[in-house]
Amino acid sequence: MSMGSDVSKPVRLKSERSKTEHRAFFGRKSGKRLHGGQQQLFDNLLPQLRVELPEGKVFSPKNIFGRAGRKKILEIGYGGGEHLTRQALKNPDDDFIGCEVFRGGIGKILKKIDAENIPNISLFTEDAYLLLKALPDASIDACYLLYPDPWPKLRHHKRRFISAITLQELARVIIPGGLFYFASDIEDYANWTLAHMLHQPDFEWKISSKPQFWHIPFAGWQPTRYEAKARREGREQSFYFSFTRALPAKVPLMFSSPSA
Ligand SMILES: C[S@@+](CC[C@H](N)C(=O)[O-])C[C@H]1O[C@@H](n2cnc3c(N)ncnc32)[C@H](O)[C@@H]1O
Repeated sequence: MSMGSDVSKPVRLKSERSKTEHRAFFGRKSGKRLHGGQQQLFDNLLPQLRVELPEGKVFSPKNIFGRAGRKKILEIGYGGGEHLTRQALKNPDDDFIGCEVFRGGIGKILKKIDAENIPNISLFTEDAYLLLKALPDASIDACYLLYPDPWPKLRHHKRRFISAITLQELARVIIPGGLFYFASDIEDYANWTLAHMLHQPDFEWKISSKPQFWHIPFAGWQPTRYEAKARREGREQSFYFSFTRALPAKVPLMFSSPSA
């Protein structure tokens, strides 16, 4: 496979912190000042859509976002929310939750939700890892992580969202047979992700016989804002990975005892 570095090499977990330590959020939360209309949406619409961590910091299966019996889809780091709002409009019978900490991005999605009256999106505005920790086991049908911050410097790799700790939580909250989607234009982050995933027995990489299938976008894909930026900056190809949450191992059938 011509993806540059060898994904079978051991994962560089040394550049992560301890395997159990809480991963702090690193990044930009504020940006330009909000203009009048956006501030109003923060004051009036956001409180209606916001997912708050429950006391004790763990949701019961009954009090997580969305309505019972509907699929629950998570998007981590939705940026301006282009992909999330498209998905929510396309799949009105599913419930979506978007995690984003950057106020500019939250402002953009609020504007879109308000303008298009989108009823099936909830928003979590803190570090997505806190939400993952709080979700009940097997409570999410699919999760998207699209163009996560690449943190290219070696000393910053520990800030990448993909880590042994976050994958452990993702494996816990995604239902068996559920999907985890990852996209990036940065080859080093793609290799990093594959190396972590291949060390995580709870996920199976969905491979195909098509040549360079990892460059083929997901079905129905439309570029996100960051993908468009990557193309403008000359990064011609992206990596699109889908992983299935493995089904539990089959319990061997018990033989009935032979009759005497
Ligand atoms: C490079 S941008 C990509 C945005 C969007 N997915 C796209 O493709 O256009 C990554 C986004 O992830 C958000 N982010 C990074 N770490 C996060 C975290 N721990 N929880 C929630 N959002 C996070 C950042 O604020 C940023 O908006």
